[in-house]
Amino acid sequence: MTNETVEPDITAAGNEVSASFLAAKKRSDETLAALEANPGKFTMLTGDRPTGRLHLGHYFGTILERVRMQDKGVHTNIIIADYQVITDRDTTEHIEDNVLNLVIEYLAAGIDPNKTMIFTHSAVPAENQLMLPFLSLVTESELHRNPTVKAEMEASGHALTGLLLTYPIHQACDILFCKGNVVPVGKDQLPHIEITRTIARRFNERYAKKHPVFPEPAAILSEAPEIPGLDGRKMSKSYGNAISLGATAEETAKLIKKSPTDSERMITFDPVNRPQVSALLTTAGLATGRDPKEIAEEIGNAGAGALKQYVTESVNAFLAPHRERRAELAKDMDTIRDILHEGNKRANAIAEETLDEVRAAMGMKY
Ligand code: TRP
Repeated sequence: MTNETVEPDITAAGNEVSASFLAAKKRSDETLAALEANPGKFTMLTGDRPTGRLHLGHYFGTILERVRMQDKGVHTNIIIADYQVITDRDTTEHIEDNVLNLVIEYLAAGIDPNKTMIFTHSAVPAENQLMLPFLSLVTESELHRNPTVKAEMEASGHALTGLLLTYPIHQACDILFCKGNVVPVGKDQLPHIEITRTIARRFNERYAKKHPVFPEPAAILSEAPEIPGLDGRKMSKSYGNAISLGATAEETAKLIKKSPTDSERMITFDPVNRPQVSALLTTAGLATGRDPKEIAEEIGNAGAGALKQYVTESVNAFLAPHRERRAELAKDMDTIRDILHEGNKRANAIAEETLDEVRAAMGMKY
């Protein structure tokens, strides 16, 4: 192939991605503005895969936004997506521990179980049953086109399982069973929200023209910049560069101490040329609410050692109340289980009701 034939393709694909991103961003901004004016009209659904511990990136990236929406008066729902764990791994080892730990983390961060419904996939059969009519509304090639699924398959090193291929449709069940219309997510989840919108639209067109059953939800893209890991790469537990919310102050100090920097003594905030030093400054900036540039100027010639000490102190001070609350909550696991059971019960009632509407719309009420 010559350059002439390759280049337009790449450009076309690139343009397509950014055009749909821009459309999603615009919808996100408009929806957020409407939500500020009238929070009670919105239903938020978002969630996490219970694969491990939450870290500072989750906290600033999504958890705070959920608490904010809850306190504003949005109807808030959090799914602990346990069936999503087996999309790309062959074991459910530690899953119960991970699920209960997520509940603790949410509560410690300010989620109020009387306002926010917390539940798991595996406890809500009627939610899962939506998968059958929904799968009939998408084609195999649409499933294969999802870039996030492709990336996850490659990262897993496993063959593409049926569940990995179809989990975006399952995620549409998560969102639509409770008629969620706002979904705070990261950029990587946009293809899933797009297919959810498509499913809602196709279902309504095919079966419920007069009285639409499902809303077309908007992704809410966080304003917070992506928080880099301590080494300047993407924050990820598997890179060992993430500060876990539940780590002790000593573990946090150790992790920060061994994070790489460069050989230049003078501390400056320069994310492009000095990603590692800048990641440390960004972390301290988030923990203190200060401008990273100002922190850099203050430390100046004192070097990386002084910077790391400042990061350690500020992160540990910021997380101390959260860590205290989670330790307190963990003393009473019966209550944590009760909260999850109560959320599951509520989710079941809502899912049964929606499934009933779906049966009615499809003429399957016998
Ligand atoms: N896939 C999401 C993630 O990995 C988690 C998730 C499951 C989710 N179901 C959802 C997010 C529904 C938003 C809406 O982060």
